[in-house]
Amino acid sequence: MPDPLVLAIESSCDETAAAVCEGRRVRSSVVATQVEIHRPFGGIVPELASRAHLASVTTVVSRALADGGVALADLDALAVTDGPGLVGALLVGVMAARGLATATGLPLYGIHHMEGHLFSVSLADDRADGGPFVPHVALLVSGGHTELVDVSGLGAYRILGATRDDAAGEAFDKVAKLLGLGYPGGPVIDRLAAEGDPAAVAFPRAMIDDGLDFSFSGLKTAVAVHVDRHGPPRTRKALADLCASFQAAVVDVLVAKALRALATTGRGRLHVAGGVAANGGLRTALAAAARRHGFPLACAERRYCGDNAAMIAAAAAARVAAGVPPSLHVTPNEGLDSPSRAVVP
Ligand code: KG4
Ligand code: ZN
Repeated sequence: MPDPLVLAIESSCDETAAAVCEGRRVRSSVVATQVEIHRPFGGIVPELASRAHLASVTTVVSRALADGGVALADLDALAVTDGPGLVGALLVGVMAARGLATATGLPLYGIHHMEGHLFSVSLADDRADGGPFVPHVALLVSGGHTELVDVSGLGAYRILGATRDDAAGEAFDKVAKLLGLGYPGGPVIDRLAAEGDPAAVAFPRAMIDDGLDFSFSGLKTAVAVHVDRHGPPRTRKALADLCASFQAAVVDVLVAKALRALATTGRGRLHVAGGVAANGGLRTALAAAARRHGFPLACAERRYCGDNAAMIAAAAAARVAAGVPPSLHVTPNEGLDSPSRAVVP
């Protein structure tokens, strides 16, 4: 059977995205970012996000079809992120997808946003096959989530650990805000950190020796206290040192916990995805750990680390190929391991 051709919409947060995938092969991927809309507020304003999704969703979908050289009649299925995320934002994508499903009669697959991130690792533009969905541990690090997942197959996900407070990306965004670096914080801290000394300031590595959960809110407070005591960094070098020291604290914890998850599950393979997976320091540290410990490492390509719809289309295509019936339930807070989303072999 040829790989299913799927059109997906993703609107859970601040990117309006649509994409067409043939299995895991990306035919088109269009992302309309709302960063400029939210930047003046230093964070995402949910109401503005919903309105911006509404304004661009039809254009983004048309472009994804045109870029992919695909007509609606060619498709095997439709997909949409139905949670977790901002409820108003999710509803825009879901209603657009429902409209398309009604008009075409195609099956509509609701996909968990974090299942999409899992699939972002194996998205391929030019390969017919991104490789089997082999058992692995996934480190998912984004603005809303930081979790370690034991993946034993399609729809068979067990959360091993998660953040107890801030997500890793949230920590980057909050620290960038307090340093006056604007929004979103990850990319700018990443750039500055590359010039700085990660040993300049000894920030805490919360819970590093303890289990598989994370905590990043104390680190953010530690940076705030440092700035209070010493004043805001006055030179580019001081700013770079502060960013490098903060980033090293996040990276050390993420790497240590990922290694612990591999050891406790006995899995031999690590996948890494989500917006923070684009981070240069994290990618370098993980690659070094993989070499040292001899396990295969697969990081999502940088262009697919942030939110996109190709990852949603690929996840749906896998479900279509496996004969999983479509289902859709808008759930702003449901976990990746919810039984309602499990695939029972
Ligand atoms: O996956 P994503 O696009 O959206 C969510 O599902 O949350 O992740 C966005 C997060 C933001 O917090 C952003 O600051 C962070 O990913 N991020 C980064 C980098 N690029 C984006 N964090 C660290 N280093 C980066 N290079
Ligand atoms: Zn995401």
